[in-house]
Amino acid sequence: MKKKIIFSGIQPTGLLTIGNYIGALSQWKKLQKKYFCIYCIADLHALTIFQKKNMLSNNILDVLSICLASGINPKKSIIFIQSHVPQHTQLNWILNCFTNFGAIRRMTQFKEKIYLNKNINVGLFNYPILMAADILLYQTYKIPVGKDQIQHIELVRDIANRFNNIYGKKIFTIPKKKLHENYGSCIMSLLSPIKKMSKSDNNKNNIITLFDNDLTIRKKIQYAITDSDNPPNIKFDLKNKPGISNLLIILSNITEISIQKLECNFNNKNYYDLKEFVINNLCLFLNKLRKKFFFYRQNEILLKSIIIDGAQKAEKYAKITLEKVYNTIGLDI
Ligand code: TYM
Repeated sequence: MKKKIIFSGIQPTGLLTIGNYIGALSQWKKLQKKYFCIYCIADLHALTIFQKKNMLSNNILDVLSICLASGINPKKSIIFIQSHVPQHTQLNWILNCFTNFGAIRRMTQFKEKIYLNKNINVGLFNYPILMAADILLYQTYKIPVGKDQIQHIELVRDIANRFNNIYGKKIFTIPKKKLHENYGSCIMSLLSPIKKMSKSDNNKNNIITLFDNDLTIRKKIQYAITDSDNPPNIKFDLKNKPGISNLLIILSNITEISIQKLECNFNNKNYYDLKEFVINNLCLFLNKLRKKFFFYRQNEILLKSIIIDGAQKAEKYAKITLEKVYNTIGLDI
């Protein structure tokens, strides 16, 4: 039987966080067992923030290496760079013409970005429509993402439905979001565990990046906000104990020990014990990941061959959908 298609993307901007790893990359790896997976490094999306030439190309290779180190297997799945498959921007233009201005104006990420950004460019506005092109080109069944992308995925579904309804044909598969099953779809900031951990956070003590060294990890986790319960109480309770719950989620996902089991193990222990365990396991986990990262990152010949192969394979699928769209709307002469 033909495997259903999984599609997702990641931007090559800044240093990836443990949130990106748990919310996206760890899922990407697991889904390869059951699905045909297509993963994209969204370099065109990254242009919505000004990028220095060498930084961008380095970041693309860094993120590709992280994906490979996280277990994305280019022999099983397709991994490619968005700008290398021109059908993404071609379909993007067509979908622009099928998207309501008001719907994009309501996107919360857009509103946040224009509030924070000095460089308010049209790309920021168009951002979710390019995501729609990414996803719809591959007749995607499910999209593994973090919670912050839910509104974008809803928009993609609306665009696809509108297009199919106008032409009375199923041109696009209507995709569904796939959130992490072990509470990992929104890893929170360390000092303010009621907001998302974000790589663009100005206060780097809020985030654990995949490149933080042992000492930095130790300091950041030591400062992480818990609560002032007396006696200390290591219980999973997202509403009343967001800091402790966030640490338990991170710990559970990197050790694969269930949250329930962790709660039992830390019964009657204090927050210092929990933090020491988080620190030791994060250091162990990230050191292993980085070792694999450096293996790939130092082998640019291998990376370039994966990039070329990925683009060729992705384009084969993308062309089929774009041709269908051209034929449907009358661009087929
Ligand atoms: P990006 O690069 O911001 O993030 C990549 C993935 O990481 C997830 N994520 C998190 N998950 C849990 N906790 C967090 N704190 C956390 N922070 C980030 C994001 O939800 C995302 O899944 N627009 C996308 C890239 C993209 C894309 C696509 C995604 C381009 N085309 C098509 C899906 C389908 C983005 O900026 O992701």
